[in-house]
Amino acid sequence: MNFFSTLSLSALLLSSPALVMANSNLQNGEKIFRQCAMCHGKSAENSAFNESRIIRNLKETEIVTALKDRKAGKVIGGGNGVKARLSEQDMRDVAAFIQTLK
Ligand code: HEC
Repeated sequence: MNFFSTLSLSALLLSSPALVMANSNLQNGEKIFRQCAMCHGKSAENSAFNESRIIRNLKETEIVTALKDRKAGKVIGGGNGVKARLSEQDMRDVAAFIQTLK
């Protein structure tokens, strides 16, 4: 490995965590939200199965708590299959993304 590739590799290693912190939350949230849109609407504007509240009206923390409760099986609902596959980071990211749809 020559000097320049060592240099660019370390630049990459140093810069990527910062990039992830700055950008990936909303990007990941947008990606995750595609799975929610079919029930909750493209802009989170629908009541899923006419049962749920309009989730874009919920606060970020309310969404994260709702997702955790459904993943844990404390609340049983039609969307639990998708919710059970989310990591806690995914939940935070998608909740943050939904705030951008208001
Ligand atoms: C297959 C349809 C479906 C999918 C996909 C789905 N949901 Fe749901 N969701 C529902 C239904 C039905 C309810 C109401 C029943 C319940 O309380 O779980 C609900 C409830 C919720 C609630 C609680 C709303 C309330 O009334 O308090 C939140 C928040 C939520 N969903 C977010 C999401 C997010 C974020 C995603 C994507 C990761 C998602 N849902 C994917 C059908 C779905």
